[in-house]
Amino acid sequence: MAVKKRATKWHDYFPGCFKPESPNSVKTKRVSSSSFQRISLSDLSSSTISEELSVSLAGSNLHVFTHQELKLITHNFASSNLLGEGGFGPVHKGFIDDKLRPGLKAQPVAVKLLDLEGTQGHREWLTEVIFLGQLRHANLVKLIGYCCEEEHRLLVYEYMPRGSLENQLFRKMCIPIPWSTRMKIALGAAKGLAFLHEANKPVIYRDFKASNILLDSDFTVKLSDFGLAKDGPQGDDTHVSTRVMGTQGYAAPEYIMTGHLTSASDVYSFGVVLMELLTGRKSVDKSRPNREQNLVDWARPMLKNPRKLTKVVDPRLEGQYPETGLRKAAALAYQCLSYRPKLRPTMTEVIHVLEPLKDVADDAQIGTFVFAVSMDCDSLRKSSSENKKETTKEEEELTVSP
Ligand SMILES: Nc1ncnc2c1ncn2[C@@H]1O[C@H](COP(=O)(O)OP(=O)(O)OP(=O)(O)O)[C@@H](O)[C@H]1O
Ligand SMILES: [Mg+2]
Repeated sequence: MAVKKRATKWHDYFPGCFKPESPNSVKTKRVSSSSFQRISLSDLSSSTISEELSVSLAGSNLHVFTHQELKLITHNFASSNLLGEGGFGPVHKGFIDDKLRPGLKAQPVAVKLLDLEGTQGHREWLTEVIFLGQLRHANLVKLIGYCCEEEHRLLVYEYMPRGSLENQLFRKMCIPIPWSTRMKIALGAAKGLAFLHEANKPVIYRDFKASNILLDSDFTVKLSDFGLAKDGPQGDDTHVSTRVMGTQGYAAPEYIMTGHLTSASDVYSFGVVLMELLTGRKSVDKSRPNREQNLVDWARPMLKNPRKLTKVVDPRLEGQYPETGLRKAAALAYQCLSYRPKLRPTMTEVIHVLEPLKDVADDAQIGTFVFAVSMDCDSLRKSSSENKKETTKEEEELTVSP
């Protein structure tokens, strides 16, 4: 299995992004808000430039910002506003209001800046604009706008005060997430995925992981990062054949081996995150003893054994979870992580199992939660953005030649 970096230069993908070959060469479909027909990356011509993109997405209410405007709202991308950094580049907090554009709601935003030296390129940027610009759901992060000016590529999202699940779950300094909140997070994420899988034109998310699950102040989940999303199989096709991309520890084994992508690959990744929620362990943790480094390999066999299950459950829960709820959630994770994709449940089935688990009123051993309002994790995130860079390197995407 070869691990490669993605191309970093967007000229390679979209040579005409700077200069259209001729006005007639641009084929443009338009998003119509009345009869919604989602457009795909393949509907755009390879010479797509900023203007064509804004015409194509005209019905989606995305704002097109200038680089100067985004500099202004982030105080020139000040390090004091840095929220974190992933493979795409740094993310800064900013603030928008109707002084910037008439009608804009006054609100904080997160501005993601494509780093030219980073591992993700223009294609991922464009994929994200096209998917998130058209998909709207309570469990998907809202894309407010973008900037595509000369070499600048930026994305402007609604700001999520609690950052990512990865930060909240694994950061030692954050208050442990209680059981019922973990189930609420799992359910919200499942609803986001089910929405994608069951859309008129289904979408495979392909990069489901704790760092892409953002959390609102009340722990409402919003999925982010659609740079690797793909249209699902069409007609009689059972899968999409594609280069294997994703994150080590989360990608489904059959997808890594064959490059055949289905919505069941997302279900597997969901199982990994569910297991992270149950155990409080990262999907890959090189700081652990060898046999415990890969969470699925180590913990999956124990999920069906009630006695062993209590050994893998997150010690930070301090026993505050309902036995039955834990067993059901563990059995669900086990099923999602099945090696045979056909044996995995659909995301709708997952929702049905999870729905009752967030209400902690069965034979719970749970005492009273002391649920303090956790500190704003912004500062923690900032201080750890250097560590994050290292993690991102470790999590380099896999590009496997089948
Ligand atoms: N809308 C947002 N609101 C608040 N914080 C955000 C938002 N989007 C991203 N962040 C923060 O920015 C950081 C970087 O996010 P980003 O999605 O670029 O990378 P990542 O998911 O950590 O890694 P990867 O590149 O592998 O997806 C994350 O720690 C996340 O908490
Ligand atoms: Mg991300």
